[in-house]
Amino acid sequence: MEKYVIKGGQRLEGEVTIAGAKNAALGILAAAVLTDEECIIENVPYVQDTRVLLAAIENMGARVKYIDRHTVSINAGVIEDGEHLVVDDDNIRKIRAGYYLLGSLLGKYKYANVALPGGCDIGARPIDQHTKGFEALGANWEIVKGGNIVVQADSLTGNHIYMDVVTVGATINIMLAAVLASGKTTIENAAKEPHIVDVANFLNSMGANIKGAGTDVIRIRGVERLKGTEYSIIPDQIEAGTFMTMAAATGGNILIKNVIPKHLEAISSKLNEIGAHVIEYDDSVRVMSDGRLKSTHIKTLPYPGFPTDMQPQMAVTLALSKGTSVITESIFENRFKYVSELARMGARISVEGNTAIITGVEGYTGAGLVAPDLRAGAALVIAALSADGFSTVEDIKYILRGYEDFDGKIRALGGAIEVVDSEREEQKFRLRVG
Ligand code: UD1
Repeated sequence: MEKYVIKGGQRLEGEVTIAGAKNAALGILAAAVLTDEECIIENVPYVQDTRVLLAAIENMGARVKYIDRHTVSINAGVIEDGEHLVVDDDNIRKIRAGYYLLGSLLGKYKYANVALPGGCDIGARPIDQHTKGFEALGANWEIVKGGNIVVQADSLTGNHIYMDVVTVGATINIMLAAVLASGKTTIENAAKEPHIVDVANFLNSMGANIKGAGTDVIRIRGVERLKGTEYSIIPDQIEAGTFMTMAAATGGNILIKNVIPKHLEAISSKLNEIGAHVIEYDDSVRVMSDGRLKSTHIKTLPYPGFPTDMQPQMAVTLALSKGTSVITESIFENRFKYVSELARMGARISVEGNTAIITGVEGYTGAGLVAPDLRAGAALVIAALSADGFSTVEDIKYILRGYEDFDGKIRALGGAIEVVDSEREEQKFRLRVG
């Protein structure tokens, strides 16, 4: 089994270029199915989640072609028998975003039969708001034998939908189902994340009529048909934030390129607050730290609040910061699983319900670690890079779901990290970096 072996203690310095936003890409790739014409999508991150979704779209009968590593062409016009498609394979069950095919297939063919979504085990992750939205548009749904969800409608008609919780997934899914519905749909209490805006911009470039994305009221006027388009995905806010905290935690100095600084404000302001120094440029940010950081309090919230997907990386940084910090996780109920791993490196964190109380320590010591999920896995890599001595991180399959060339980018910043899949390779690395 592949794992990372890391020797900590280097200050990470240099430049890193951020890939396209995974969570925007997943919505956009699914949206491309809504037209029979070709869509060319640029800046698609080459990560496991996007490849699994693209494989599923190809298995549905669409023509999917990588024009280069980050540019994908999708032509769903060649899908046959779209009204009876069943989307199910072992891989699609493991990712969360398979559920976007529910919205896009329902929107286009009025029938979707898709394996129930998986994704990181960070909480219950219900999909009641998705199904509530589909029902409001006139669809009915059921879970069928084998664990697929089937959603179908004779026709879809716009409606007024109030979301009981702010949810990224359901907001995107309802947009996907509503763009071809007849009449007007209003989504109230919509999520406002940058990737919601990106998916809406992509749909509008296909000829959809969506207004208000990025605010909590999204208005959609259904159109007859959508056309092909060329579109470039926004940079990944969470990959950028991960490298920002990496600079802070290792006392480094990293220029993080190809970002939209506005999307990073919640992260930048917390890093500035704890004594790291963030400088914003037009499309990059520099994070510098002398390693002397202080505590703060953080509560995860929907955008523009502090993102839950940055909570573990920030916790790793705060656990090295002087004083007592409190993190309240208000989005997912099971997102502190990395704490027991960090404890073995010397971190002092106690968890009470959805709150982590962190007492800063001077440093970590290297340990054998296991990634519990995607973002926590990345956080453990940051901890290992800041630690004294060697660490290993197992179950890197989670990290590969969302970070492109994570180890390569870290090496380019001076971090001592290698992917190994045998004892011998690990020993070789240990001897080499000594
Ligand atoms: C997406 C992201 C994930 C990120 C999360 C929050 C993707 C593929 N994943 O996940 O990385 O951590 O947004 O920014 O884009 N909820 C319900 N009912 C529903 C849907 C959600 O109660 O029908 C709840 C969830 O349990 C959670 C909250 O709403 O407490 C937010 O979830 P949501 O924004 O939907 O997260 P995901 O789309 O699953």
